[in-house]
Amino acid sequence: MRDCDNNSGFSTRAIHHGYDPQSHGGALVPPVYQTATYAFPSVEYGAACFAGEEQGHFYSRISNPTLALLEQRMASLEGGEAGLALASGMGAITSTLWTLLRPGDELIVGRTLYGCTFAFLHHGIGEFGIKVQHVDLNDVQALRAAITPKTRMIYFESPANPTLQLVDIAAVVSVAREQAILVVVDNTFCTPYLQRPLEIGADLVVHSATKYLSGHGDITAGLVVGRKALVDRIRLVGLKDMTGAVLSPHDASLLMRGIKTLALRMDRHCANAAQVAAFLDEQAEVELLHYPGLPSFRQYTLAQRQMRLPGGMIAFELKGGIEAGRRFMNALQLFSRAVSLGDAESLAQHPASMTHSSYTPQERAEHGISEGLVRLSVGLEDVDDLIADIGQALRA
Ligand SMILES: Cc1ncc(COP(=O)(O)O)c(C=O)c1O
Repeated sequence: MRDCDNNSGFSTRAIHHGYDPQSHGGALVPPVYQTATYAFPSVEYGAACFAGEEQGHFYSRISNPTLALLEQRMASLEGGEAGLALASGMGAITSTLWTLLRPGDELIVGRTLYGCTFAFLHHGIGEFGIKVQHVDLNDVQALRAAITPKTRMIYFESPANPTLQLVDIAAVVSVAREQAILVVVDNTFCTPYLQRPLEIGADLVVHSATKYLSGHGDITAGLVVGRKALVDRIRLVGLKDMTGAVLSPHDASLLMRGIKTLALRMDRHCANAAQVAAFLDEQAEVELLHYPGLPSFRQYTLAQRQMRLPGGMIAFELKGGIEAGRRFMNALQLFSRAVSLGDAESLAQHPASMTHSSYTPQERAEHGISEGLVRLSVGLEDVDDLIADIGQALRA
């Protein structure tokens, strides 16, 4: 086995962790185990697998060697005990929440969340007897006041989609620990290269691996990482029996390919976004700008403490509101008008009519998502070309 345990650097583990070519006929790239089922050497062995007495694979909705390598690698990168790969970020989120919450439980969530997560909370589990309460998690007093003996979990994104508001993970963890409440963090915008919530004390991290982790916009995938006992339950209850949101082995292989270059790509996403944000900051047409790397960002100090770099996402509003935003987006030539994020291609979208259209206009107002907000996912192109495109679209 190659020496790349948890003491090796981030990229070394992203490329090598958990895999020895010499155990696979010298194949440099891990094989794709394209199989749904597994032959048992005996009935007794098969029964022992089902009983959890043997660790063997027995059906690919539950486990598969290609996914197992991806899960092990991600656990190493996030600093967690175990990982679980799923078919999408929503598959990861729903499998986790269906497993860990019961009717009668209370769930505290951040103020702003991705639109489908919001819809799942309010139109999914919210209709099955779980009380969902949005709290400004940076207000520790408000958080303490919201906690009751029934509070089971605190769930949030940091930075939040689409406002980029941050949550002080350490502060939330310290309150949650007083009461043995689970802390689950959606780390999609940062990836473990920029932020590792488990090392700060969170219990679980969830990801839309569709985004930066895969990095090429060609698969949907999700991940859960954290304490083994919790991850095992999510596998054997949420994934196996409730959502069945299993990732295909081929997509797991593509995701591992993406993860190999994660650090390189994130450095470039962040460097490009910093320059785009600095450019936008100087433009008279821009009314409001949210980028964690700008000193004017309201949580700049927290961003500096909590994130290795400020990320590749920018949100802003133009003077002239939604109409100006629409004109700007329609005039873009290099940025694609598309949802999702974290791809090599730069993307621009309008949260109110796209990713956050599952909120009503009143809910968007309550949750800090203004109708004119434009969200950019800054890609890996040459930054001068990106800035030129934004400049011509602003003048359009
Ligand atoms: C922060 C965040 N979490 C979760 C998801 C859901 O992920 P997926 O689209 O892979 O289901 C998204 C998708 O945009 C997201 O932005």
